[in-house]
Amino acid sequence: MTTQKVAIVTGAASGIGLRLATTLVNKNWRVALLDINQEAGSALATTLGPSTLFIPTDVSSYASQSAAFAQAFSHFGRIDALCANAGIVDRWSLYDLAGTAEGKTVADVPDEPDLAATEVDFKGVVYGVRLAVHFMRFNPEEGVSGGKKIVVTSSIAGAVPHPALPEYSAAKAGVVGLVRAIAPVLREKEGIAVSCVCPGLAATAVLPGFVVEAVGDALLTKVDDVVKAYLAYLEVEGEEKAGEVVEVVGGSVDVVPPPRVSTQLGKEMMVAGMGPIFGALHGGESKVDLSGFF
Ligand SMILES: NC(=O)c1ccc[n+]([C@@H]2O[C@H](COP(=O)([O-])OP(=O)(O)OC[C@H]3O[C@@H](n4cnc5c(N)ncnc54)[C@H](O)[C@@H]3O)[C@@H](O)[C@H]2O)c1
Repeated sequence: MTTQKVAIVTGAASGIGLRLATTLVNKNWRVALLDINQEAGSALATTLGPSTLFIPTDVSSYASQSAAFAQAFSHFGRIDALCANAGIVDRWSLYDLAGTAEGKTVADVPDEPDLAATEVDFKGVVYGVRLAVHFMRFNPEEGVSGGKKIVVTSSIAGAVPHPALPEYSAAKAGVVGLVRAIAPVLREKEGIAVSCVCPGLAATAVLPGFVVEAVGDALLTKVDDVVKAYLAYLEVEGEEKAGEVVEVVGGSVDVVPPPRVSTQLGKEMMVAGMGPIFGALHGGESKVDLSGFF
């Protein structure tokens, strides 16, 4: 029987995921490294050694991510934490500022956009949550303590809208909303604490060098500070911080206050609708205490 906790880290081959995976290994966790980048992922597993397993994965594909979870579970025998961290930014311009109506007709409809950022940053996290809930149900009871955790990497651009990265910003806001929506239910029903880290701009591969230069050292967030925010969720006992969303900017970690319906009527409406909607869709009662939630 192992006393080591097991984490799945997506996007583990670079940047925040790489530092997080390395830190967890140094703290005696065993880590499944999931990434689409096979070369960097294999190299990292070689560096970190036998307490890791690299599994080439495209998180935006349910088949790929579910096969990776199955492999991780079969290799390590349990999954204590999912760090849903893989992410990419917009691959197209929603504004198309260079485009004009000149020389075109109304029938020249723009090409279908490449929504890869939504696929990875939003769909990939939804898939990960679904899989984590399933596999964590099969964790052996004995072994390790600390509780089951899901931590999602959103972004400062998910905590507040970012006009320069509209698709990314919306997808990252989507996962903030997802975390807030599911945390009370997964805590109550599954004993899983779900939380969310929203890093400020950090000098990793996702950020082009010219942006890093323009922002400058004084305003950049250190990857180590993002990892510390992650550890605060992974290392806390139980579900105390379930539903929490934090911004990590510079060395500061601040809770992002949850949005609330602005009128009393609206709050009562939301509470009144919750039971019937939940029952119809999920076939049971949420048993969630909604006082103050809306
Ligand atoms: N660096 C920043 O400024 C910043 C700020 C806020 C949020 N974030 C978020 O932090 C997370 C980590 O990014 P990072 O800064 O370490 O960037 P990074 O580019 O260094 O790392 C991202 C990793 O995700 C992997 N990846 C991309 N698509 C994938 C897919 N389909 N399946 C599996 N893996 C995939 C990449 O191969 C890479 O290893 C991302 O979600 C990113 O949006 C980064």
